[in-house]
Amino acid sequence: MKEERTIQSQTLSEDGQSDYTLRPGSFQEFIGQTRIKENLCIFIEAARRRGEPLDHVLFCGPPGLGKTTIANIIANELKVNIKTTSGPVLERAGDLAAILTNLSDNDILFIDEIHRLPRIVEEIMYPAMEDFKLDILIGQGPSARTLKLNLPRFTLIGATTRTGLLTSPLRDRFGVINRLEYYGHQDLVVIINRSASIIDIEITDEASLEIARRSRGTPRIANRLLKRVRDFAQVKNNGVVDLNIAKVALSSLNIDKLGLDDMDRKVLLTIIEKFSGGPVGVETISASVSEDKDTIEDVYEPYLLQEGLLERTPRGRLATPFAYEHLGKTAPRRLF
Ligand SMILES: Nc1ncnc2c1ncn2[C@@H]1O[C@H](COP(=O)(O)OP(=O)(O)OP(=O)(O)O)[C@@H](O)[C@H]1O
Ligand SMILES: [Mg+2]
Repeated sequence: MKEERTIQSQTLSEDGQSDYTLRPGSFQEFIGQTRIKENLCIFIEAARRRGEPLDHVLFCGPPGLGKTTIANIIANELKVNIKTTSGPVLERAGDLAAILTNLSDNDILFIDEIHRLPRIVEEIMYPAMEDFKLDILIGQGPSARTLKLNLPRFTLIGATTRTGLLTSPLRDRFGVINRLEYYGHQDLVVIINRSASIIDIEITDEASLEIARRSRGTPRIANRLLKRVRDFAQVKNNGVVDLNIAKVALSSLNIDKLGLDDMDRKVLLTIIEKFSGGPVGVETISASVSEDKDTIEDVYEPYLLQEGLLERTPRGRLATPFAYEHLGKTAPRRLF
């Protein structure tokens, strides 16, 4: 099995129940993403007043920023049922048909990783989303027949980490499209303090800020780092998380001031040392660091780009002067 990284933004096995216990259940508890929250509250209120289902909603953005959380909050606020599934699980048209026909009016169907919906399933989704009608072919050969069914008036909530991979006919059928952004340090501090109080951890403000700074703008990582730091605090500091113990813990985990771990640094150092700062193609980087190309693009790059450590150009990836500075390297003159 692949090694799991502490600062990976996808769920890890060690997260266990914590995504669940720490997950905000209402918009009041959901910190940050203010604009998205405010708009959704209006759409929800309007749908409720009209007694109609909410328009289909799409959430895009890197893992761990709250897509699943918001989908569940919407269901809570609308007081409707939510049925959760994911793109790759829905292999055949019949799988989707079974789920859709079991919904009630105004219910929510949440499809995670919706960009991985197989083509045939996606195609029966179009009329289902538009006209609440199902049109499927049953059987094969001469005995095949189409089945037309009226569906309950449901709301589809889709989540994807890769907007680019979504087909435009599918994307266009969503009435509301929300892109979740990385969280600022102040929002993460509030999230960390909230989580600390839920799992009963005593933490100082400086320590919260230190963890926030190294959480890559991602609540899931912030929560995970909080729990790792607590372990150090319990063994070395009577359980109290202060700035000093937070620093000791985070550096023992090899997570630097910007929240980069060994693998991020390896990617940057490879570009700097083996390819004189780039530009270098992502395939070449992938071969040099022995990591899957998709993983580099989905997991490592978004944060490196966001922090201004990496630049994407038509000719390949480029290490920025800031990357040189962060890694204590001298940048070649041409970069300035
Ligand atoms: N705005 C927020 N306020 C407080 N906690 C949050 C917020 N957003 C996310 N979290 C925490 O982060 C965890 C991960 O969020 P969530 O599972 O919703 O992410 P996701 O975007 O669905 O990720 P993935 O793409 O991996 O499915 C949640 O369990 C919750 O504890
Ligand atoms: Mg999710």
